[in-house]
Amino acid sequence: MKRILNVVGARPNFMKIAPIHRAMKKFDSEFEPILVHTGQHYDERMSKLFFEDLQLPEPDIYLGVGSGSHAEQTAKIMLAFEKVVLDTEPDLVIVVGDVNSTVACSLVAAKLWVPVAHVEAGLRSFDRRMPEEINRLVTDALSDYLFTTEKSGNENLMREGIPATKIYYVGNVMIDSLIFFLEKARKSNILEQLKLEPQGFALVTLHRPSNVDDPENFKKILDAFEEIQKDIPIIFPVHPRTEKNLNHFGLQDRVANIPNLRIIPPVGYLDFMQLMQNSKFVMTDSGGIQEETTYLRIPCLTIRENTERPVTVELGTNELVGTDTQKIIRNARKILAGEWKKGAVPELWDGHTAERIVKILKGD
Ligand code: UD1
Ligand code: UDP
Repeated sequence: MKRILNVVGARPNFMKIAPIHRAMKKFDSEFEPILVHTGQHYDERMSKLFFEDLQLPEPDIYLGVGSGSHAEQTAKIMLAFEKVVLDTEPDLVIVVGDVNSTVACSLVAAKLWVPVAHVEAGLRSFDRRMPEEINRLVTDALSDYLFTTEKSGNENLMREGIPATKIYYVGNVMIDSLIFFLEKARKSNILEQLKLEPQGFALVTLHRPSNVDDPENFKKILDAFEEIQKDIPIIFPVHPRTEKNLNHFGLQDRVANIPNLRIIPPVGYLDFMQLMQNSKFVMTDSGGIQEETTYLRIPCLTIRENTERPVTVELGTNELVGTDTQKIIRNARKILAGEWKKGAVPELWDGHTAERIVKILKGD
């Protein structure tokens, strides 16, 4: 029997761990999965809602660390998680993605000689000013199992000297959740609530510090939205970091006066899937949404200069548009004119990635 700590902390972790936790429960004579939530995200709309939507059980262990500077948050998670590892004596710790909870728990496990599995390993933006890039590099260096979502991940890890025997191309657990919940999401009434027609709106999310902590970049992006909303309404569920900065930079009045730019609180997983699959296109700086739009074949403009998920551009429906106002507007118009690539779905993004991971961990 393998006792395994499945770690989550922030919004993009929940949909990645859910299929793994579910797959392990199927083999309950072989695995004892323990769900640990660090509490990096804690608002109802950033956390609890996802447990309900994704049918995740309540966390077995909640660390309640909350927000803080990078050092503060990482250190708090490490202190609390060290006790958990010492108490539970797990055979393996599974971490997903690239948030502070990911790196903090990997560090603790590795130093206590507990093997680490990193799901979504090998992604690189090659931009070390992005906090997630540091988290990815450190987590991968410490991991014993590196599960990759796209071939670039394997190449990056090999170049960094990680032995090939530790690297497994398994596909994308985020897409497992998307496929599993797509039908259920169609029953969401979010379109009616917001009085939206299918294909009749664009969907936006923004939360990267490089965009929303920098007032100049934030304004350039809003300039683009102001122009685009003349052609199509924009729905913008606002991340707490972004909300805080809208207030901090005194931008809330400006945003409130753009008639077809609708700011709403962050929405749950099923509502967001329903919004995404019915949108004309998406503008985002999210990592995961670049992948979900590729799977759904919805055009995506990524408001960043780089991406750690190049397959979504090479094969999928994604394009990088940076923060250049005119470039964002030009590309949105291209989509509205029907001139966009159709895209294809990367290999093994098929809904069965978690099962492949569990099989590998079982040693089959
Ligand atoms: C974090 C991740 C980022 C991920 C994003 C997903 C790191 C370094 N960053 O960014 O990779 O893409 O989550 O959403 O791990 N806040 C609330 N309520 C919450 C959570 C946060 O109000 O439930 C506010 C706090 O003011 C906090 C700020 O948002 O200081 C930022 O939260 P934090 O977890 O530090 O980073 P994110 O920007 O959410
Ligand atoms: N998401 C959601 N509601 C929202 C915004 C995003 O359910 O209001 C989902 C999104 O579909 C994806 C995940 O949250 O599954 C991505 O998280 P986020 O963009 O916060 O983080 P990133 O992927 O950039 O790390």
